[in-house]
Amino acid sequence: MTTKTQKLFIKTYGCQMNVYDSARMVDALAPHGYVTTNILDEADLVLLNTCHIREKASEKVFSELGRLRKLRKTRAERGKATMIGIAGCVAQAEGEEIIERAPLVDLVFGPQSYHRLPDLVQRAKNQCVVDTDFPEEDKFDHLPQATKQATIARGLSAFLTVQEGCDKFCSFCVVPYTRGSEVSRPVARIVAEAKSLAEAGVREITLLGQNVNSYHGQDPNGVDTGLGPLLFELAEIEGLDRLRYTTSHPRDMDDELIAAHADLPELMPYLHLPVQSGSDTILKAMNRQHTAKHYLEIVDRIRTARPDIALSGDFIVGFPGETDADFADTLSLVRQVGYASAYSFKYSPRPGTPGASLEGQVEPHIASERLLELQKLIKELQHAFNGNCVGNTMDVLLEKPGRKPGQLAGRSPYLQAVHVDAEETMIGQIVPLRIKSAGQNSLYGEQLAKTHSTSDNRAQLARNLANQDGAPEV
Ligand code: 5AD
Ligand code: SF4
Repeated sequence: MTTKTQKLFIKTYGCQMNVYDSARMVDALAPHGYVTTNILDEADLVLLNTCHIREKASEKVFSELGRLRKLRKTRAERGKATMIGIAGCVAQAEGEEIIERAPLVDLVFGPQSYHRLPDLVQRAKNQCVVDTDFPEEDKFDHLPQATKQATIARGLSAFLTVQEGCDKFCSFCVVPYTRGSEVSRPVARIVAEAKSLAEAGVREITLLGQNVNSYHGQDPNGVDTGLGPLLFELAEIEGLDRLRYTTSHPRDMDDELIAAHADLPELMPYLHLPVQSGSDTILKAMNRQHTAKHYLEIVDRIRTARPDIALSGDFIVGFPGETDADFADTLSLVRQVGYASAYSFKYSPRPGTPGASLEGQVEPHIASERLLELQKLIKELQHAFNGNCVGNTMDVLLEKPGRKPGQLAGRSPYLQAVHVDAEETMIGQIVPLRIKSAGQNSLYGEQLAKTHSTSDNRAQLARNLANQDGAPEV
């Protein structure tokens, strides 16, 4: 491949897994002369890393392609070629059909092909390329690691994929088809990646997987290891102060994982644990393999282990067959759990999933009404959770400059955004802040008279590195 510098614009849709994958694509192309740009007009290569989870998410890709058609034309008038690639779950699900619908696309490749990206780009210079195979080899074995500078530029919190794919087959969900069956990365590779993130100054890692708590990677002796023991091992890494994981399935919250919540101060007291519905009839139709009571028992066990844990969830309203009584069960479960935050969606029938052919599809206006009612309740609970934080002191990881001059923005242990008046040199520190006020989506904190910094200074670290190796890239 050419080593002439080429500009890469990458747009990411959907979940955190896609954010992680986009970063890996940037890392895979960097040795081949590609540098990222935020200016679409100067991009030689445009990649859309897509999401297929709901219809709206997929349709966004095709409206973006409409805009890219114009871009390609104006660049061509300036004598510049533009390659357009579609990655991610829409690519995996629709393959060739994307090129039939949008012939300007040069390259379509699924989530299992990212390590072959440099080769695919090279081939796409001559003809359209579609690569949506599920290869035997593990893509993670072949993806290059980010450089230290690239890691620093990406910030203090990083994602790390530990598991991919899903064998649960919830009847509404495309993930088992687009991401394939479950694959867990070996423990040693995850530990090595976490260490190199920590060495570059990353202080918080979120372990990612479509079904992250079903993680069962092999340790160096070939023994299957669950997410609980993996978290214990990662907590030993010097400089890594905070661990999180997402997204979990209730059935995989095993004793060792719950013990990690009790015993590991590094494991942050926040858990995203989707339940989707509070009605047993709907949970059965969704093939969730648990009841509402089972879910509430798990929540109780987690709260016993870590009483201050903030819970978050996902909900689908208007699943086929959902009655007013089923929906009332969902509202009741939401109240019982008292979520700190939650995401809710109108059911979107996805081609190829069992849910799409079920009878009793719910009228769209009824689904919309239910969604509004659920979102109102979730908002109230979130407001109450944030309000309860006022007057408390909590450790906040200061990550970046805030919206207002003189302010920094950070994250609380409960994943709330927190703003504080503080010097920029404090970026990278974990600082105890007294919470003075709370809004719907963020908190405002004040420094205590004397702060107890638990960290070295990331700004200094970045400067040291820049002096050694030149300015940070990407
Ligand atoms: N329709 C609506 N929401 C869905 N989700 C997944 N599939 C669908 C669908 N077909 C939601 C679930 C899941 C979240 C990532 O997206 O709530 O947990
Ligand atoms: Fe989809 Fe999650 Fe169910 Fe797997 S567990 S099928 S990813 S909703």
